[in-house]
Amino acid sequence: WCSIYRVYQPRFISATKMSLEQAKQVAAYRAVDEFVTNNCVFGVGSGSTVIYAVQRLAEKVETDNLKVTCIPTSFQAKQLILKHNLTLGELDTHPVLDVTIDGADEVDANMTLIKGGGGCLLQEKIVASCSKKLIVIADYTKDSKKLGDRYKKGIPIEVIPMAYVPIKNKIVGLFGGEIKLRSAIAKAGPVVTDNGNFILDWLFINQDLDWQNVDTVIKMIPGVVETGLFVNMCQKAYFGQPEGIVNER
Ligand code: 5RP
Repeated sequence: WCSIYRVYQPRFISATKMSLEQAKQVAAYRAVDEFVTNNCVFGVGSGSTVIYAVQRLAEKVETDNLKVTCIPTSFQAKQLILKHNLTLGELDTHPVLDVTIDGADEVDANMTLIKGGGGCLLQEKIVASCSKKLIVIADYTKDSKKLGDRYKKGIPIEVIPMAYVPIKNKIVGLFGGEIKLRSAIAKAGPVVTDNGNFILDWLFINQDLDWQNVDTVIKMIPGVVETGLFVNMCQKAYFGQPEGIVNER
């Protein structure tokens, strides 16, 4: 453990992996320090960067004696909240959140996000849509000009299992590209989300699409539950850099 951010550096982690982890951590710590206040209702995103945000939140709740109610965006987020003895809430009792801090797979120049690399996009979008602010925390590899510049796995789309083939054909017919049904390990069968659905990863070709329109059109297809496109939802992004500084956008 070293410095104020207490970065754990086991010897078997490569320098690149370490700088990525450090970048995630500094971004997460900065966002929590800036946006968590006493009595706030706080949306807990999903993914590896959010682990650091919850760590920092737990420290602040303890040291500053804060009251924070945490709304999870996934099974993983709920487990993190419980592990750190934070107060767990739900949308039934807290339908308006002050802020949600979440990761992203890519953030373009217009603050449009691709999310759902971890398959949690549906609950992430629901919670974000109930939040006064959505703040993204990410390492430097997620910062891009256009969607697809850096994240090469496409846009995740959560679908009802029985409809995945027609949905796949319709999206390719409308916008081109290629679609893969997400599976955890080759031949192991499809990934099933926290909501019992499948994920399609759409490898789009045209990077100059109107993403708001794409999102609307895809969601009109029967059987599509949600897309990983977050358009006009994110107010601010923190990108941790390899040297440990944070760029804000
Ligand atoms: C999960 C997500 C994650 O927030 C996104 O994949 C980024 O994850 P990480 O912080 O591990 O890079 O959208 O559905």
